[in-house]
Amino acid sequence: MCGIFGYVGKNNAVAIVIEGLKKLEYRGYDSAGIAGLKDGEIVFCKEVGKISVLEKVLLEKKTVLDLAIAHTRWATHGIPSENNAHPHFDMNRSLALVHNGIIENYAELKAQLSAEGVVFQSDTDTEVIANVIAKYYRGNLPEAVNAALPLLKGAYAIALVHKDHPGKIIAVANQSPIVIGVSQGEVFISSDTHALASGTRDVIFLSDNEIGVISTDKIEIFNCHNEQIEKQTETLKYSGEEVSKGDYEHFTLKEIFEQPQTIRNACSSRLMEEYGTSFFEGLAEHLADLHTVERILILACGTSWHAGFVASYLIEEYARIPVQVEISSEFRYKNAIVAQNTLVIAISQSGETADTIAAVRELKRAKAAKILSISNVQGSTLARESDFTIFLHAGPEIGVCSTKAFTSQLVILSLFALQLARMRHMNIEEGRQFLEALKKIPDQVSSILKQADSIAQIAKKYAQYNNFFFLGRQYMYPTCLEGALKLKEISYINAVGYPAGEMKHGPIALINEECPTVALCTNHKTFDKIVSNLMEVKARKGPILAIIDESQEKVSAIVDDVIRIPQTIDSLAPILTTIVTQLLAYFIAHELGAEIDQPKNLAKSVTVE
Ligand code: F6R
Repeated sequence: MCGIFGYVGKNNAVAIVIEGLKKLEYRGYDSAGIAGLKDGEIVFCKEVGKISVLEKVLLEKKTVLDLAIAHTRWATHGIPSENNAHPHFDMNRSLALVHNGIIENYAELKAQLSAEGVVFQSDTDTEVIANVIAKYYRGNLPEAVNAALPLLKGAYAIALVHKDHPGKIIAVANQSPIVIGVSQGEVFISSDTHALASGTRDVIFLSDNEIGVISTDKIEIFNCHNEQIEKQTETLKYSGEEVSKGDYEHFTLKEIFEQPQTIRNACSSRLMEEYGTSFFEGLAEHLADLHTVERILILACGTSWHAGFVASYLIEEYARIPVQVEISSEFRYKNAIVAQNTLVIAISQSGETADTIAAVRELKRAKAAKILSISNVQGSTLARESDFTIFLHAGPEIGVCSTKAFTSQLVILSLFALQLARMRHMNIEEGRQFLEALKKIPDQVSSILKQADSIAQIAKKYAQYNNFFFLGRQYMYPTCLEGALKLKEISYINAVGYPAGEMKHGPIALINEECPTVALCTNHKTFDKIVSNLMEVKARKGPILAIIDESQEKVSAIVDDVIRIPQTIDSLAPILTTIVTQLLAYFIAHELGAEIDQPKNLAKSVTVE
């Protein structure tokens, strides 16, 4: 988490880094700060809260700088406070530093430095970095940084300025991204390429332990032996992505409503209707032979993990390949067994989730398997480290809770499952039928979105409860997990997704008039079973809101409220059902006056373990 943005060039650095920082605000918004150099001294400003607070203060002060580093924070070490906000300094205030990541051994280093006489001002691990670098500084800044880096344990990215080196920003990446954007007479640094969008598309990615010394007229990169190295500039494709809210009150609502289009984008040029299969350009060259895949291991976190969980049902049902779905942070420390001919699928909207990247790196180090990733961000760390990446083409997802990325992930995973299935047991006719059902999905999503007003009415009624169950079976089980997560994260209401058949093994004890169930009843194969489970809920006076499709009648008599959606096949029902749970979460959060686009304590890109 945390976002870093820096600029050196002909324009006012303050305005530019604030704009860049706003695009990184999804990485954290506990506090924000900026540092630069003026007349041989460090100039800085930091404020608790969002970037707009910092911006206001800088405007009032009319601060102008030709070089600046800036930071938006998601607190790890130390509460969100002005003292703990970045930039941090060495004890003598010779350098100012911003940091993303965690220094795991900061306590030992801090104790050692304190014993040597360093006095600390904050509770952060960042201030330790500043003082370690200062300790080794003898006039050559890259050498001091190189001397300090081996002492720092953890994953981090750093940017710093030093008063003896006017006109220069030093940037370092270690398992946490820093991209340098190069333009005519100006250079940017950023935690991701997306924040560079309007500045430049010519970029240099810093690899681990490389040090960039950046000024307007040159960019020098040093390796860990203090040798200058050459790095290629890459040109990113400009996607012309739009990042305004338009007429919507929140990005989250806009992104929910974008889904008919984002689902079309995910399908675009990937459907081979004549052959009843799918096609991903370039995939075959990189993943030599999908025919020989015997097992699939899916790695992801949060909503992306839910998409992977849905995919496990899909791939096993259609392609008959065993699938293991793992939460990346658990998988990393599991000493897992990866069998031969396993294909790893790493799913991450941002492509920057630390745990997923670390799990992938470990598998690559062990040469354990080929890595296919599914991401929304070109140039992301995950995309660069995978053998092949399928992009969502969903456009930037700004709302912190993932909505359109989830449904795009489901579409891509369905198409991939179809391809594997067609290589194995599925005949062309079955493949064509699957594509027929998929092609209807965007219009079906539009028709659900037209019910937004009536879902908002239902949400008003349910906003009064403090605890929810989301119940479903088969494809609807992972869909329940996603529905419950959405409600939790944007409305702060406790919600638990559960397989409906498991309720009687314990959780049914919690059912009463005060605990409603959102019943996801769109899985035809298990419909009668969930009806029985709902009878058990009703018998204990639990209020029930059911999501059912047009073909289902039976449930209306036993539930309190019903939301009807168009009918599709079971394996695609998670997409349609999720549109409803997203709207429900959104309108409940809205009713409660919660901060929807940037929920408290969260960040969109989770770049720490
Ligand atoms: C929930 C949400 C998170 C992310 C998770 C993984 O709405 O957004 O649970 O899904 O942090 O992020 P990515 O997909 O970027 O790896």
